[in-house]
Amino acid sequence: KKVVLAYSGGLDTSVMARWLKETYDCEVIAFTADVGQGAELEGLEEKALKTGCSQIFIEDLRHEFVKDYVWTALKASAVYEGHYLLGTSVARPVIAKKQIEIAKQVGADAVSHGATGKGNDQVRFELGYYALKPDVKVIAPWRSWPFKSRTDLLNYAAEHDIPVTATHSKPYSTDGNMMHISYEGGILEDPWAAPPEDIFLMTRGIEKTPDQPEEVIITFKSGEPTQINGKELPPVDMLQTLNQIGGLHGIGRVDIVENRFVGMKSRGVYETPGMTILHQAHLALETITLDREVMKLRDSLGTKIAELIYNGFWFSPEFKVIQNMVNDIQEPVSGEVKLKLFKGQVTTLGRRSPQSLYSEALATFEEDNVYNQADAEGFIKLNALRLRMQQDQI
Ligand code: ARG
Ligand code: SIN
Repeated sequence: KKVVLAYSGGLDTSVMARWLKETYDCEVIAFTADVGQGAELEGLEEKALKTGCSQIFIEDLRHEFVKDYVWTALKASAVYEGHYLLGTSVARPVIAKKQIEIAKQVGADAVSHGATGKGNDQVRFELGYYALKPDVKVIAPWRSWPFKSRTDLLNYAAEHDIPVTATHSKPYSTDGNMMHISYEGGILEDPWAAPPEDIFLMTRGIEKTPDQPEEVIITFKSGEPTQINGKELPPVDMLQTLNQIGGLHGIGRVDIVENRFVGMKSRGVYETPGMTILHQAHLALETITLDREVMKLRDSLGTKIAELIYNGFWFSPEFKVIQNMVNDIQEPVSGEVKLKLFKGQVTTLGRRSPQSLYSEALATFEEDNVYNQADAEGFIKLNALRLRMQQDQI
């Protein structure tokens, strides 16, 4: 019997590796996805083997993550409940997909992950697993093992000689990747208590950002960012560069109370510097390249796809349909956006596109010869028809 475990080398998944092995009398294969979380990948193999895993797969998924997942969310303007850019939600399917590939490759019958029974992540991982390998067996130790606390885990690790790095445990839960870092739980559970300044790792507080604004020009091709200030950058470098610049100027912090799929409200603090810049730049370019009615459609699709991503339905038939529509819509979204970054704000300074639908000749307040103002009279009168008929009912 073989189980592929999504493994980080932290306390939880280390204990999990050994617990799985002992409880199910199975071979445990560790799998670590590099989605840009900046985790310690060095020494991970040795640690996994010492913990009792038979082998470990360490996979660099950064390019695939940004190109196929982050850019998909960007093109769809996917935002959950008005604020959350879905940094964690978007990373789960790429991890689940690779994990299933490995499970198939090594002939494993089961997969396992370290998400708790109270959150969204369990749903996202498992819907991904089942969609990609319908007969897979899923083991979610947090829902079935006897341990209740960190102390329980530390005791088990000591008893079983499991190497645990003496990391000072943080008083909150965090998840990070190329797109963002999230902070939840612990000291953040009281939604009235402000997050302490020192939790943030990607962005500076406004008090510490430069007093000089910075201008950047971002080029898009069919909805995907391709250049910064005229320099071509592959997806990973693009996001990395914007994370740096955005972080420096304190851009992309969000503090919300959100609705988890499982039903509870949960306080989430996020920092998403690069994506916040891209999101705004992309919207600015859409304003000149998208038709009005197509833009409305984009709005409703964006809300829908955000919900699908949040709830874990990346590999669903409805997701595929919407994704195809989004790609169609994004076809003309090419051009440049000029932005100013300053004190946590992204300000659009200008936008231009070879595919622009904006016509200065048409919009001008000066004299023009393309628009006949007299036409507006009939346009308004016919629109007023209904309103005039119901006059005495108001
Ligand atoms: N609340 C966010 C979401 O559902 C972030 C979850 C963070 N996950 C974690 N394991 N800490 O997408
Ligand atoms: C977890 O429960 O593992 C983290 C929070 C979440 O998934 O929403």
